[in-house]
Amino acid sequence: TGLVVAMDGPSGSGKSSVSRGVARALGLRYLDTGAMYRAMTWWMLQQGVDLADPAAIAARSGEPGIVCATDPDAPAIHVDGVDVGGPIREAEVTGAVSVVAAVPEVRARLVALQREAIGAGGIVVEGRDIGSVVCPDAPVKIYLTASAEARARRRSAELAGTTVEAQQEAMARRDTLDSTRKTDPLSMADGAVELDTTALSLDEVIAEVLRLVKE
Ligand code: ADP
Ligand code: CDP
Repeated sequence: TGLVVAMDGPSGSGKSSVSRGVARALGLRYLDTGAMYRAMTWWMLQQGVDLADPAAIAARSGEPGIVCATDPDAPAIHVDGVDVGGPIREAEVTGAVSVVAAVPEVRARLVALQREAIGAGGIVVEGRDIGSVVCPDAPVKIYLTASAEARARRRSAELAGTTVEAQQEAMARRDTLDSTRKTDPLSMADGAVELDTTALSLDEVIAEVLRLVKE
């Protein structure tokens, strides 16, 4: 089918886990656009690009070859043939990604790559601007939220060596950058359904999204 499910929301709201679960249940592909922004950031750091200089980031943004797999059971991301699935989750990339993602040339390039990967559809796409920019015509748009404390608790359970407090602070900083940037800020898209997952289990959230898809 050509179905596109757009899944947006702040970090730790459950986009990745919910999107993969929904894709698996419906036999759809899955695209993690956050992984693409992280891969771009990893490459900029690797190249020693001055991240305080948006013009320098823009000038190099066409160079890395970023390929994101779309099998929900085998997520993978490569930059120029190098598997960067591990390093893109590390603190250095996480701390820099919002700055790189705010550069319009970076967004234009990655949105084009994302539309290419989406192709004729049959896919769950997660990110920050999927329902508003990448796929404004998606028939199903979800905006996942959860309390700041719940999101920080979930993320620190996944990462070793961080406290909930430190995590909450880092996420708040990134959420502010993501929602106040000039180009395509994180916000609820027209026609999106907001789903607060604070008091729900992962399975309950997946079931609710599947219900919305069938509607
Ligand atoms: P995001 O992609 O929005 O950053 P993730 O899916 O990576 O979010 O992280 C969410 C984490 O929280 C996962 O480890 C997931 O298992 C856990 N989790 C706990 N409860 C829920 C829920 N109700 N909905 C989604 N994820 C949940
Ligand atoms: O998993 P988490 O929600 O923490 O982050 P992510 O989805 O991997 O996204 C990492 C960062 O990429 C975000 O903080 C945004 O700055 C950026 N991003 C974006 O700008 N647009 C998207 N569609 C996806 C991610």
